Amino acid sequence: MIQVNDKDALRVVMRGYRSNSETTAFVPTLGNLHDGHLSLVRKAKEVADRVIVSIFLNPTQFDRPEDLDAYPKTLENDLALLKRENVDLVFLPTAKEMYPDGGTTHVNVGGISEILEGDSRPGHFSGVATVVAKLFNLVQPDISVFGKKDFQQLMLIQRMVKDLDFGIDIIEAPTAREESGLAMSSRNNYLTADQRNKVAPSLYKEMLIIIDAIQKDNHAYQALQNIATANLEKHGFKPDYIEVRNANDLSVAKAGDKNLVVLASAWLGKARLIDNITLDL
Ligand code: PAF
Repeated sequence: MIQVNDKDALRVVMRGYRSNSETTAFVPTLGNLHDGHLSLVRKAKEVADRVIVSIFLNPTQFDRPEDLDAYPKTLENDLALLKRENVDLVFLPTAKEMYPDGGTTHVNVGGISEILEGDSRPGHFSGVATVVAKLFNLVQPDISVFGKKDFQQLMLIQRMVKDLDFGIDIIEAPTAREESGLAMSSRNNYLTADQRNKVAPSLYKEMLIIIDAIQKDNHAYQALQNIATANLEKHGFKPDYIEVRNANDLSVAKAGDKNLVVLASAWLGKARLIDNITLDL
């Protein structure tokens, strides 16, 4: 497994793959890798000759400095996991390498950046879109794999790739879940064992209750959301939102919409959890 820290070295290796006509799939990460990330890497392995992973704790997408400080840094373990997955190339830039003079150009994906996660975390999606655009320009992969767990981020990346003609095929990978149903996330590490095992899975369960009601032809979305919010509060969450949206554009869902997504975000103790389930009627 090749490890590079600087952009020039990365470009040299990528040029080598391209000159051998090898296809490339890229998985960007913030580090603190878990089985969810590894499922993206395995997907990448299935679809391309070479797999490239970046580990970069991008400061510009953290709206709260304490969230950036608290994010677990586990580089040695991350590298061991990637080596075991036979990843070809890992890009590990510093913040100075990525933003040598700060950078004054920002990518803002209109519309969906301002709602839900964008509303709760101002500036977050501009940070994500800008760093992913930079990484795409550096790596220039054929394919990039993103998890469905961050549904809104996935939509934003798909939109950016289309609008800016990156010519990269974006592949989505299903959300990896613990046995309890809890979506895998680095932020689960902030939970106590009791919160993680006994309370956190209720977020997924409340979304499933909404999905079940919709499948039984209940389209009173606002009422379903109100019940789920009250239930989450009873369990000890502080919900940011739990909403039924149109899965094509994230507009508020109306009866008659065929492609739906239930999106939820809630604080539990020190962790802000997010999750979603899509449903095609
Ligand atoms: O989903 C993430 O881990 C990050 O937002 C990403 C895509 C690696 C950009 O920093």
